[in-house]
Amino acid sequence: MSTPPTFRVATLADVDGIAECAAEAMMEDDLFGALWPRRKEYPDQFVGYFRGRARERILDHTVVTLISEMPVQENGKEILKVVGMAQWQKFGKPSVETGWSVYKAAGSRLIGFQDWAYSWFQPKETASDPEAVARFMEDFTEMEHKFWFKDGKEHDRWHLQLLAVHSIARRRGIGGRLVELGVERAKRDGCDASLEASPMGLPVYQSKGFEVLDTYMMKVKGSDGQPIPSPILMWKNPDVKR
Ligand SMILES: CC(C)(COP(=O)(O)OP(=O)(O)OC[C@H]1O[C@@H](n2cnc3c(N)ncnc32)[C@H](O)[C@@H]1OP(=O)(O)O)[C@@H](O)C(=O)NCCC(=O)NCCS
Repeated sequence: MSTPPTFRVATLADVDGIAECAAEAMMEDDLFGALWPRRKEYPDQFVGYFRGRARERILDHTVVTLISEMPVQENGKEILKVVGMAQWQKFGKPSVETGWSVYKAAGSRLIGFQDWAYSWFQPKETASDPEAVARFMEDFTEMEHKFWFKDGKEHDRWHLQLLAVHSIARRRGIGGRLVELGVERAKRDGCDASLEASPMGLPVYQSKGFEVLDTYMMKVKGSDGQPIPSPILMWKNPDVKR
């Protein structure tokens, strides 16, 4: 893999590549392990979750999904593989990239209908733990209110929802570049950038200028039976008056 990776905004045509990359990258992650305890027995369901999530986010007006690709050999053929992905969401004031679009609005209606129709025929999803997922949703809402809501208003920011780099492409600067691309958007829009980190992601974010504001202890328990710590990080835009 000597060709340098390329970076671009994802489209609906990229959902399969994004899902495979995210599922592979998150297979050993402690939080996803708690939410999806049987993901290794049912890897297709795990990939399916990321596919649904990728489609939903690509059709969300407030989200920009970025991908990194590299040529790799698979089954004797060279293919362009998605080896990194980042979902950045704009909160607060809309940005040039997050305006309403008829394509996204129509697409999300259509996909909502398609998912409802398919749900009648799909086997019951067995790989995840519904109780852990419910606890995580509580954690998520609590974190949002504790750190990113003030006086009934969202903190104006680009927020990194998910960052994943496939294990075949790590330590080559792909994760770092996907973080920088979000920070560049925050600079352009005169706002901050934020995220909740996993222990593995922490050094990447700190190397890109993010500061740890606090550490939230989740209700979701990790593989050691203890609450999973989630460091809360912010890249503070020097142009923002505080
Ligand atoms: C975390 C992750 C996205 C990093 O992606 P990456 O492309 O390997 O990161 P980069 O190559 O850009 O690393 C940038 C810097 O971060 C640091 N870093 C990255 N991974 C590290 C690790 N495992 N241990 C220590 N430092 C690390 C290094 O300083 C590195 O710079 P260097 O390689 O010049 O020393 C990737 O390992 C991954 O997908 N992990 C599983 C999913 C996950 O934890 N995602 C984060 C969710 S918050």
